[in-house]
Amino acid sequence: MRYRGKRVLVTGGLGFIGSNLSIRLVEEGAEVTIIDSSVAGCGANLFNIAPIRGEVRIVDADLAEPEAFRNDIADCDIIFNLAGEISHIHSMQFPERDLQINTVAQLRFLMECARTAPGVRVVYASTRQIYGIPDYLPIDERHPIQPVDFNGVHKYAASMYHQMLSRTGQIDGVVLRLTNVYGPRMALDVPCQGFLSTFLRRLLMSQPLQVYGDGRQLRDPVYIDDAVEAFLLAGSARNLEHRTYNVGGPQALSLNDIAEIATLAAGAPGVEYLPFPEEIRQIDIGSYTTDSNLILDDLGWRPTVRFEPGVARALAYYRENLARYLDPNHPQPSCRMPEHSGAAWRLLYAAV
Ligand SMILES: NC(=O)c1ccc[n+]([C@@H]2O[C@H](COP(=O)([O-])OP(=O)(O)OC[C@H]3O[C@@H](n4cnc5c(N)ncnc54)[C@H](O)[C@@H]3O)[C@@H](O)[C@H]2O)c1
Repeated sequence: MRYRGKRVLVTGGLGFIGSNLSIRLVEEGAEVTIIDSSVAGCGANLFNIAPIRGEVRIVDADLAEPEAFRNDIADCDIIFNLAGEISHIHSMQFPERDLQINTVAQLRFLMECARTAPGVRVVYASTRQIYGIPDYLPIDERHPIQPVDFNGVHKYAASMYHQMLSRTGQIDGVVLRLTNVYGPRMALDVPCQGFLSTFLRRLLMSQPLQVYGDGRQLRDPVYIDDAVEAFLLAGSARNLEHRTYNVGGPQALSLNDIAEIATLAAGAPGVEYLPFPEEIRQIDIGSYTTDSNLILDDLGWRPTVRFEPGVARALAYYRENLARYLDPNHPQPSCRMPEHSGAAWRLLYAAV
């Protein structure tokens, strides 16, 4: 019960990671306020927080307008900052939209935190994408930063805001560079959310998985409960030696391994191999695996859930709540501007 009685702000708390974190925080006795504006094209889903619906405060506000929730910032002990856009492809199609969500909004929010709650702990969800095409594996925190897409560039800028403001004592930031996270409450019906979301969707629709290239690229997916534990440790640790930590999964698996394990768990039809679509090939990073030794040494965190049970748990959750995540009549979302939210995006970001 590390968080008993703590007042905690979770930005992006209606999305995949933020909702799972909020549920754990409530279980640990925290008073949770969620800030989320349900951005079209991101993973917000009110059903995600069904288990804690009456126990959390939800503020429907954009991080770019923090004046709207200044009092919530002033009153909190810890901030978990997960609001963001995860899609690499969206970032290439709409770079200014990504800039607005992943940097401008972050800058405005952090400046408000520094003014209203100086020195507050802010744990930020950064991404492995900032490393780009690996020079070596597994990647540690000293690896060069060489992102291949706008999402990586913008997320890196936001992580630097956290570090710079921490260096000058204005906030107390910790940055977690996450590998691919998976598990219950991921958005499955939103396009371009990454291959694990697409795999789960296809398995639940009894469609064969589609792998681009030869499937030998490595990934190290981390199960959501492990990722949440990394946030909880980072939020409560005192006297941190470092401020930036990689968070990776327990196994280095090829896409072929991942597809095989997942199809076996789902009892779904096999795998199709397709050439890389040009749009994806341009931002592909090849193989990626994480060196998570720094967070192990400093915070005692290590991933515990292997992919086999993790994917089985995710499938069980979605099967129980399928209608909340999938519309079987909705065609496979393509990685283009989705019909149903395109107009909203254009309106929302017309001014950018
Ligand atoms: N899911 C992963 O595998 C992964 C990997 C690396 C990093 N991350 C980072 O973790 C964070 C959470 O990812 P997720 O998978 O839960 O994504 P998600 O899309 O499910 O959730 C993000 C939430 O943030 C909200 N949001 C976005 N911009 C906002 C703004 N300006 N104001 C208010 N709310 C806003 C969205 O409405 C959404 O509910 C993101 O910052 C992402 O970059 C995720």
